[in-house]
Amino acid sequence: MTTKKQTVGIDRLSFNTTAHYMDLQELATQSGTDVNKYYQGLRQRKMAIPSMIEDVVTLAAGACQRIVKEVDVEKIDMLLFATESGIDQSKSAGIYVHRLLGLPNTCRVLEFKQACYSATGALQLATNYVRQNPGRTIMIVASDIARYKRNTAAEATQGAAAVAMLVSANPKLLSIDSASGFYSNDVMDFWRPNHMHEPIVDGKYSCEVYLDALEETWKSLKDKTNVKISDFYGFCFHVPFSKMIFKGLERLFSLEPVTWSERARLNSLADKAIEYNQDIGNCYTASLYLSLISLLENNPENMAAKRLGLYSYGSGCTAEFFTATVGDNYRNYLYTDEHASSLASRTALNYSQYTAFHDGFVKTQTMSSSENVALPPSSYTFNGVSDDKRLYSVNDSLV
Ligand code: COA
Repeated sequence: MTTKKQTVGIDRLSFNTTAHYMDLQELATQSGTDVNKYYQGLRQRKMAIPSMIEDVVTLAAGACQRIVKEVDVEKIDMLLFATESGIDQSKSAGIYVHRLLGLPNTCRVLEFKQACYSATGALQLATNYVRQNPGRTIMIVASDIARYKRNTAAEATQGAAAVAMLVSANPKLLSIDSASGFYSNDVMDFWRPNHMHEPIVDGKYSCEVYLDALEETWKSLKDKTNVKISDFYGFCFHVPFSKMIFKGLERLFSLEPVTWSERARLNSLADKAIEYNQDIGNCYTASLYLSLISLLENNPENMAAKRLGLYSYGSGCTAEFFTATVGDNYRNYLYTDEHASSLASRTALNYSQYTAFHDGFVKTQTMSSSENVALPPSSYTFNGVSDDKRLYSVNDSLV
């Protein structure tokens, strides 16, 4: 009798984004820019804009909620919160999410930071834990608000979302291989000092470092496992803006011979991997995993048992190339309809509403309440600050 080898990886994947967005046509009209610079040059269509009652905690709780409803929460040993939009220097944002979701007190909670890479660090630590404790699970939630100064080149790449992933043994969606390629280097391409509300970004340089780190991590992975591009059905890369992953594929193709038809196939698959990212924008550490959900949910071809290569990049920088295999019945465990309807139910903002949301967001971080803001009710709400304590509520009728 042969026993099936135990696998470890992602059992469920769910995303949650803001209730409002702005089409980049609005920004183009305002700045006198040809909109095709955004639609084609960046491959972005819309950007998710948080309101005054949303933050990384409410986004994260909404992303986890679907999963929590379906699984045994008593088995969740850890809640790992990955973000570079932290709300507190000491307390993990995950602690608020732990309470909002009603997770057991026996669950360990931690926050992870390394720019857009941190969710991958959390994922790899989680898979190692589950390999040692195969009956247990770990919830990872990557939640970020990509918010730049207005009237800058980076403004068009803003966005916000959270992705929740449950890590388990014998996962339904994706089993993750233990070998990875790593790369770290002290560079100043993107950073946010403690006293600043928006990051400093050397945009063009960050794109160069992203591509160099992709090359280095691929070589590092090859040294360990001897993989070839032809071993893979497809690739998912970190998506700071959607055009970047096509630049990433070009860099990969420059490293070994790839036929023109295979290049075309991988590029057209990448179109499926940016469907959600194009309509949400950057969500930093969540964006690789948003792209993974996009590929799994929007690719009409059956991906069961197909092998994927994943590249995670976090400015500053640390990067990792790792590999995974899609589960046999993955389609039965996706939230495709729920994700589509949450995107369809968003409210569009015009430019002046967007500036009010954008500029108001920082003020709400210290405001006593958001009571003057007339917004539709949501499952999880940030209610402002009292005695320097952040207040959150759950709307039981919506969760
Ligand atoms: N129609 C179609 N495409 C157009 C266009 C038009 N009218 N006008 C410009 N473009 C194209 C450019 O050719 C360029 O494409 P390319 O990169 O393939 O050459 C693209 O649009 C961007 O325009 P460009 O003027 O080069 O860049 P920018 O000054 O607007 O800055 C970023 C672009 C990405 C650097 C900027 O948005 C940024 O800083 N973003 C945040 C940083 C980031 O995400 N870093 C990524 C690594 S983590």
